[in-house]
Amino acid sequence: MTRQDWWADAVGYEVYLPSFCDSDGDGWGDLPGVLSKLDYLHWLGVDLLWLTPFYRSPMHDHGYDISDYRDVDPRFGTLADLDRLIDEAHELGMRVISDLVVNHSSNEHPWFLMSRSSKDNPYRDHYLWRPGRGPGQPPNNWVATFGGPAWTYDEHTDEWYAHLFTPEQPDLDWGNPKVADEVESIMRFWLDRGLDGFRVDTAHYLAKHPDLPDNPRLPADRVRLIGGAVADWYHYDHQHDIGQPALHDIHRRWRMIADDHGAFLVGETHMLDPGALAGYLGRDGLHSYFYFGLIQAEVDAGGTEADLLRAAATASPALSWAQSSHDWSRAATRYGAARSLALTTLTIGLPGTPFLYQGDELGLVNGVVPADQAQDPLAKRGGNHEHNRDASRTPMPWRAEENLGFTSADKAWLPFGDRTPADTVEVQQQDPHSILNAHRRLLHVRRELPDLRRTEPTWLDTAPGLVAYQCGNTVVAANFGTAPAELDGDWLLRYSTVDRTEPGPLAPDEAVILERVARPSPPAS
Ligand code: GLC
Repeated sequence: MTRQDWWADAVGYEVYLPSFCDSDGDGWGDLPGVLSKLDYLHWLGVDLLWLTPFYRSPMHDHGYDISDYRDVDPRFGTLADLDRLIDEAHELGMRVISDLVVNHSSNEHPWFLMSRSSKDNPYRDHYLWRPGRGPGQPPNNWVATFGGPAWTYDEHTDEWYAHLFTPEQPDLDWGNPKVADEVESIMRFWLDRGLDGFRVDTAHYLAKHPDLPDNPRLPADRVRLIGGAVADWYHYDHQHDIGQPALHDIHRRWRMIADDHGAFLVGETHMLDPGALAGYLGRDGLHSYFYFGLIQAEVDAGGTEADLLRAAATASPALSWAQSSHDWSRAATRYGAARSLALTTLTIGLPGTPFLYQGDELGLVNGVVPADQAQDPLAKRGGNHEHNRDASRTPMPWRAEENLGFTSADKAWLPFGDRTPADTVEVQQQDPHSILNAHRRLLHVRRELPDLRRTEPTWLDTAPGLVAYQCGNTVVAANFGTAPAELDGDWLLRYSTVDRTEPGPLAPDEAVILERVARPSPPAS
């Protein structure tokens, strides 16, 4: 493997920093907390950590609103803590990436404060300012992901500024080449400091149509409410505010910087059409994009997720696979822990980079967060309690104690989520049949099977309900049907999600990794 494509053999793990581990007793996760859990992540078999933003931030969106791109927020620790975390992760053979959040900054970033100060400030055009269409009327009909118009009026200069998220997250103007220069220098700053790449936040937002036209409204039968945004967002065809052709050039330039550093760029895009997503990759786009099919698909016992996976893996060998994140309902809530592990097993063998979200390895379902304790701007601002993101962000359950071993405080920034002892790392580590140990065995066994991920999969014709593909001599199979099902052939069992030792019919929601047994050649007559 070359230094340039180390991610093609890595299993990633998303650390949602505020909720992973609190080292200083303020109820909020931090970098020394992550440092204290590196051994756990190494034990689990993770190769790549994605840390959600640790930069200075007023935390209106828990770090996704950055007020200084070149410093660590004191609530997360110090630059020295980050350096130490990166060094120790590297010593354990793990890489570390973090978010690049540059569709918008915080409204407390000095660029925005200057931009807002007058129409002829040199930073005015770092952001999108426009006069309204009339008194009290925003410049166009764009809506914000978290509710309300995508424009806020500022009396000071009698103009409106654009924000596709909250008013505290003003959108940068990607039509201004100075913005691109600033961002590229920020990327170099972190890559030179040892970061191994970025998860590019809202990678398909950034550029807007230069004329900022209205977005057409969708006919009711084309509206699909999939969460992650207020309902209003899904009533528009987002032709002009996201997914613009200018994105390709931005991604291409970032790719050159990353390649100079042997670094990895993985984009957050919400394109469900695998062909369109693969088109984004091209030859010189980001190295990978998350495929959201398993996160946003409706659950269908008929094996729909497997069809989606197959279509996506066929469209591109470079997608990143995930079933949960800090933005979506947890996989075990949507699929059940057993089926979710079976899907992870399928993605582990496919070309591309699989990611676990913290707690996926424990089979965690959504945490309980009463509406009056909501922290997510989507719930608080958008009133979107059904699809709020707090439920997937409750603190990581480390130990069977009241504060889950997450913090020494009585309270955390979010409720602990009603976890049981059986949910915790401590209890599951001791149980050889736990979901945690099943994940660990999976992550370790795939290192011993070089055919996986590096060989194009051939999808096999199988009994109904059974899904299987073959890479060289290795077969990965999952049973999404309701009855036991068996694969023809002689097999050596390398892994089963249910921890058995002999091959045989797969139970519903079981997945296995098998190796073909070579038959001795018939004796020469
Ligand atoms: C991405 C992040 C999400 C954040 C949003 C705005 O979607 O994953 O958490 O709220 O961008 O930055």
